[in-house]
Amino acid sequence: MLHQYHPLGFQGSRIAQGFWRLTEWNMSAEALVAFLEQCVELGVTTMDHADIYGDYQCEKLFGEALALRPSLRDNMQIVTKCGIMLPSQNRPDITSHRYDQSVSHIIDSVNRSLRNLRVEEIDLLLLHRPSPLMDADHVAEAFEHLYTVGKVKHFGVSNFSQSQFDLLQSRLEMPLIVNQVELSPLELKHFKDGTLDHVQQHAVTPMAWSPFAGGNLFKLEEVNPELGRVMTQIAAQHHATIDQIAIAWLLRHPSGIAPVLGSGKIERVQAAVAAHEMTLSDKEWFEIWVASQGHPVP
Ligand SMILES: NC(=O)c1ccc[n+]([C@@H]2O[C@H](COP(=O)([O-])OP(=O)(O)OC[C@H]3O[C@@H](n4cnc5c(N)ncnc54)[C@H](OP(=O)(O)O)[C@@H]3O)[C@@H](O)[C@H]2O)c1
Repeated sequence: MLHQYHPLGFQGSRIAQGFWRLTEWNMSAEALVAFLEQCVELGVTTMDHADIYGDYQCEKLFGEALALRPSLRDNMQIVTKCGIMLPSQNRPDITSHRYDQSVSHIIDSVNRSLRNLRVEEIDLLLLHRPSPLMDADHVAEAFEHLYTVGKVKHFGVSNFSQSQFDLLQSRLEMPLIVNQVELSPLELKHFKDGTLDHVQQHAVTPMAWSPFAGGNLFKLEEVNPELGRVMTQIAAQHHATIDQIAIAWLLRHPSGIAPVLGSGKIERVQAAVAAHEMTLSDKEWFEIWVASQGHPVP
């Protein structure tokens, strides 16, 4: 069983499963139930959603599967996000692509997610992206309301800078427990901009979206041949695959990164879970770091 994380009560799994691409998987509800059962069995119990995924369809598909096996709900933690408006034929009421983090939008979005997912409560709600018009008092009012009425248990953010995080936290009674950001051997930005220092300082869990850079990790010959050479060599030494090395590399960081997987293929989830048992040496970790950034450490 994978280690659970976060001291403040959100018992999420160290490796999460994401559902952004669910509409591309062409899975029947029965096949999705089987996939979810296998994920849970592997200890991957945190399921990552957003209202907008799959043109507002992914939460619905997930809810249809859950309805076939309601007992699965007790063994998983459901994460969803809100705050982005995306014009879609599935949402004719949304006419412009922008952010909306008003009290009414956040509350309406959660009510819609609850209906689509067919659950009573969201375990963790994230504000999807920082908005230049974010009024922290309004977000706090919506969060406090959703907590008080029992619709959301925990709150966090995604793609937030330290100052955006601190601003919102300063208006909240409850702690923000997650900042979900892009982290991978091909995306070092948040390792360097203070995000991972900030989460450690405040006991916040960093969830890593696109841990394989959206699939670019498998095109390293084109994207970064030196990183490809280094990761292939390290993978061979560990009798592992490049994706497993990427997961082990993220897990090795002291901030307690929780990668969010993006594939609907159970063998990829199994591989990632097996990587949880691998330990990269500091030497190997830095070889990947140096190859990714293209120059030695100073
Ligand atoms: N908070 C945010 O702003 C944000 C943004 C983006 C994503 N997310 C979350 O993060 C999750 C993961 O993102 P992601 O889907 O971009 O993750 P990812 O794991 O970086 O990329 C997934 C892609 O990699 C491919 N892939 C995975 N393992 C492979 C392998 N061994 N060989 C070849 N191809 C492989 C998958 O193809 P196959 O389908 O063929 O396996 C899929 O196309 C999303 O589902 C979502 O929940 C959050």
